[in-house]
Amino acid sequence: MMSSTPNTEAGPAVDRLAMTLPRLAEKRRLGEPIVMITAYDFPTARIAEEAGVDIVLVGDSGAEVVLGYQSTVAVSLEEMLMLAAAVRRGLRTPLLVGDLPFGSYEASDELAVLSAQRFVKEAGVDAVKLEGGGPASAARASAIVAAGIPVMGHVGLTPQSATALGGRRAQGRTAERALEVAREARALEEAGCFAIVFEAIPAAVADELTGVLGVPTIGIGAGPGTSGQVLVVHDMLGVYPGQPKRHSRQYADLHGQVLGALGQYAEDVRARRFPAAEHTFSIDPAELAAFRDGLRHER
Ligand code: KIV
Repeated sequence: MMSSTPNTEAGPAVDRLAMTLPRLAEKRRLGEPIVMITAYDFPTARIAEEAGVDIVLVGDSGAEVVLGYQSTVAVSLEEMLMLAAAVRRGLRTPLLVGDLPFGSYEASDELAVLSAQRFVKEAGVDAVKLEGGGPASAARASAIVAAGIPVMGHVGLTPQSATALGGRRAQGRTAERALEVAREARALEEAGCFAIVFEAIPAAVADELTGVLGVPTIGIGAGPGTSGQVLVVHDMLGVYPGQPKRHSRQYADLHGQVLGALGQYAEDVRARRFPAAEHTFSIDPAELAAFRDGLRHER
């Protein structure tokens, strides 16, 4: 295969300190918004590096947006490790977080620690994320933290348990359910999580919780009052056609641009407009004559 050879270095040297847990805590203390984005491959990681984001999450959303599964529960730990290792190769300074997929941590503390260790050893992540803040999730978070691996929590809409939550819908919209989200977030903080994702909860609930928790909160569909924001990179780049999701903002129209480019390429090939002279390699006329001669004799 001949393709443009990517520079397999992690990208242009950047004049920025690597993100660490103390630096994240400091950002929260100073009220500086934390920027987090998902990535699932080497080129996106390099761009995230260049853009100067603080945290890159190899989310299990990759199950849907890059692997084409119907939901996040289908993705395996092996598949997540492969995506995370590619992202690692493209990153220098952002904190890299690997999302523990469904089935890789719930059954026992031992399983959770083993899966987190694989993420660190095989993919080189700095931290892992797990979903839910009930007693089992908090215990798994605590066990992983005790094993020396930083953990990011995730409450509110937790897609791995969407069926049990009644579908992919906003959570914490009654006082009772908001208190449940609060208890889960507190349990995760007590378990030692260094940050907590709030997904699809009312902005006012996220504000209150951000005020009472001692760790950074990262929102997706949780309003502007969290310590930081995260978006799924395919949503913000408009990789799929259709209306942006309510919680997201579309910053590019990659679907339209890529469709236009592929359509133009197809038209150019069919009309023999591509390749043009500048895309072809030449051969010395004498060599060509000798080649033709050789070909005739080899028949
Ligand atoms: O998998 C993912 O992309 C996530 C983010 C939405 C936080 O968990």
